[in-house]
Amino acid sequence: MSKNSIDNKMNKIVSLCKRKGYIFQSSEIYGGLDSCYDYGPLGIELKRNVKEFWWKSMVQYRDDIVGLDAAILMHPRIWEASGHVEGFVDPLIDCKTCKGRFRADQLESTPCPQKPSKMVNECGGELTEVRQFNLMFKTHMGAVEEDASAVYLRPETAQGIYVNYTNVLQSSRQKVPFGIAQIGKAFRNEITPRYFIFRTREFEQMEMQFFVKPGRDEEWFEYWKEQRIRWYDELGIRKENLRFHQHDENELAHYAAVAFDIEYNFPFGWKELEGIHNRTDFDLKRHMEYSGKDLRYFDDATRERFVPYIIETSAGCDRTLLTALVDAYEEEELENDTRTVLRLSPKIAPIKAGIFPLVKRDGMPELAHKIHDDLKRHMMVFYDEGGAVGRRYRRQDEAGTPFCITVDSQTLEDQTVTIRERDSMQQERVGMDAILNYLHERIN
Ligand code: GAP
Repeated sequence: MSKNSIDNKMNKIVSLCKRKGYIFQSSEIYGGLDSCYDYGPLGIELKRNVKEFWWKSMVQYRDDIVGLDAAILMHPRIWEASGHVEGFVDPLIDCKTCKGRFRADQLESTPCPQKPSKMVNECGGELTEVRQFNLMFKTHMGAVEEDASAVYLRPETAQGIYVNYTNVLQSSRQKVPFGIAQIGKAFRNEITPRYFIFRTREFEQMEMQFFVKPGRDEEWFEYWKEQRIRWYDELGIRKENLRFHQHDENELAHYAAVAFDIEYNFPFGWKELEGIHNRTDFDLKRHMEYSGKDLRYFDDATRERFVPYIIETSAGCDRTLLTALVDAYEEEELENDTRTVLRLSPKIAPIKAGIFPLVKRDGMPELAHKIHDDLKRHMMVFYDEGGAVGRRYRRQDEAGTPFCITVDSQTLEDQTVTIRERDSMQQERVGMDAILNYLHERIN
């Protein structure tokens, strides 16, 4: 795909996100804050649905995984133990000519800000030596800004799970193998945030750490690879746009012995969507060493004591959202015009149904309001009586709403409505008392 068509598709998605209330630039009235975004009325519903879908499949439907919500600020020693203070760095390079700052390992794919047709490695700018730049945001706890009060905004949610592993084990009476899941914010001072919400400095992760007996790690790793790619399929992401990528030695994070990414075919190329890592006993051993606490597991059945290995599945919530939007966006050529449609899976669509009176008279608005009031206790629905019904359909197509319910003159006679399905645009008549079942069946 050419650079223009990449920009074109991404620009269209960014513009739709703003127009329909999915995602806004943070602090926009002050000129915006680079790489930070706010979720609008539709965006927050989509995000809640993605998170709920993840939580259901990773926690609610399983007996061997429990949840946790750890604090963002944690003891600074945790980040020494985890290796992040020392090793969570990116190579940074400055350009003295354009004053740009770049990742030294991405010069070939980063356009020069002054000569966008050339990449930074070929634009002729004067580059500095490479420096190592730590990605953690540092701040201070309490009133005194001194080194002793330094704390970090967590760059991954995982560490909150490791340091609570014995608390959870004892309180939930789980036995190895078992997992702990968490959804929460993470922060990274990325050198080159880019592609809208793909790489930002503040983002949300959906992480699960699965504790297994050493020696069983390889089979669990395979199990979680399959489970996780299937989850994106169930989310409605097209299979042909998903693939695995195995990390070679140069790509492996400091904590991982084996790592696979699930990648998505974005308009800007195949990129990481989720990481699946065999973190071995690295993290728990380091926390044992730094905290002085015994984090070994005692297996009642075999009378063995061991440090569990950890298989991690680490998904980006914002990145999943972007994936869902990109995968769903389509400009469909119809006989007389083009319609923009977001073919989001009904499971995660922010609004499940639009409800319209065909005209604003003859008691139709009253009936449509009644349907709206009944349905809103069960799902997100939207009442709209403004403009021609065709335009109302198109507005909902663009918002990703899978169903539109119209009250017309026949409704007044036989209490049936038309339900139009977004993707096929087919309509069928359904009794007013059967609408809820009809929607439930198709959404779930
Ligand atoms: N605990 C392991 C870990 O954090 P990672 O591969 O660095 O692994 C996991 O991150 C996921 O978090 C990524 O696959 C991505 O979806 C998301 N992620 C990481 N950095 C991000 C950023 N700067 N902006 C948005 N999402 C990010």
